[in-house]
Amino acid sequence: MLWTLFLGLVAALLRTGKCSIDSLALAAAQTANAIYRDSETGLVFSSNFALYKADGRGITYRVAIPDTAQQNTAYDVVIQMVVPNDVGWAGLAWGGSMPRNPLLVAWRGSNNNVVLSSRMASGHVQPTEYSGAQYTLFQTGTKSNSTHWQFTALCKGCTAWQSSSSTRYLNPRGGNRLAMAYSPTKPSNVNSPSSSIPIHEVHAYWSHDFAQAANTNFEATVQRLTS
Ligand code: HEM
Ligand SMILES: *[C@@H]1O[C@H](CO)[C@@H](O)[C@H](O)[C@H]1NC(C)=O
Repeated sequence: MLWTLFLGLVAALLRTGKCSIDSLALAAAQTANAIYRDSETGLVFSSNFALYKADGRGITYRVAIPDTAQQNTAYDVVIQMVVPNDVGWAGLAWGGSMPRNPLLVAWRGSNNNVVLSSRMASGHVQPTEYSGAQYTLFQTGTKSNSTHWQFTALCKGCTAWQSSSSTRYLNPRGGNRLAMAYSPTKPSNVNSPSSSIPIHEVHAYWSHDFAQAANTNFEATVQRLTS
C-alpha cells in the first residue's frame, strides 16, 4: 500500500514536472512507519508522515498506547500531530475511512490555540460531533513556531466503536489502517469545535504500526501530563 501511495506520488511529481531524485527520496523515506522517542512528554510514538502536497509538505501523525492494551478491548491512546502552518484543518480517521468511525479534526483558533473536534460521519457528508470519543489536550507537547504547530492529546474512545451491528477494535499488536484528510481552509467558526468544516482537498491512507507504539509507563506518564 505504501508503494501504491509512493507510485501515485511519483506520477503526481512527474505531472507537475517537479520530479527530482531529492523529492523522490524524501517521499520514499517519509511515508514509512518510524519510532519517535519524545523527550518532552516522555512517550514513545509510532510515527507516520502523510504528504498533502507533491512538493514534500506533509502532516506527521504519532500514536502512543499502553503496553498492557489487549486485543478486542478499548484502550486509551495519545495522539501527537505536527502540522505545517499553511494547513487549514487536519483530520485523522481512526477507522481508516471517512464513514462511521471516530474522526479527529484539528485546527488553530483565533489566538493560535489548538481546537480539537471529535466527529463522526454517516457517509461522505459533513461529519457531526461525536461524544463517544473524548480528547484531552496536554500543555506539554503542544506548541508552535514559524513553520509548524503541534499538539499532544489523550483520546478515550478512539480505539473501539460501534460499526453497524458489531464493535470494531484497533489492534494494539500490529498495523491498523488509518486515514488522513487535509484542507487549506479553516472551519468558518474557528473557535468552536462544532463549527461546520469545509471539505478536504486531499485524503490518504496508511497502515500505522501500533505494536511499536507500546509504552511501559503509559498510565503514570499520562497522569503526569494531565495534571
Ligand atoms: C467536512 C465535510 C466533509 C465532506 C463534505 C466530505 C466529503 C467527502 C466526499 C464527497 C468524499 C468522496 C471523495 C471521493 O470519493 O473522491 C470523501 C472522502 C473521504 N473523506 Fe471526507 N468529507 C468531509 C470531511 C472529512 C473529514 C473530517 C475526514 C477525516 C477526518 C474525512 C476523510 C475522508 C476520507 C479518508 C475519504 C476517502 C474515502 C473513504 O475512505 O471513505 N472527510 N469525503
Ligand atoms: C518547529 O516546530 C515543529 C513542531 O514542534 C518541529 O517539528 C520543528 O522541528 C520546529 N522547527 C524549528 C526550526 O525549530
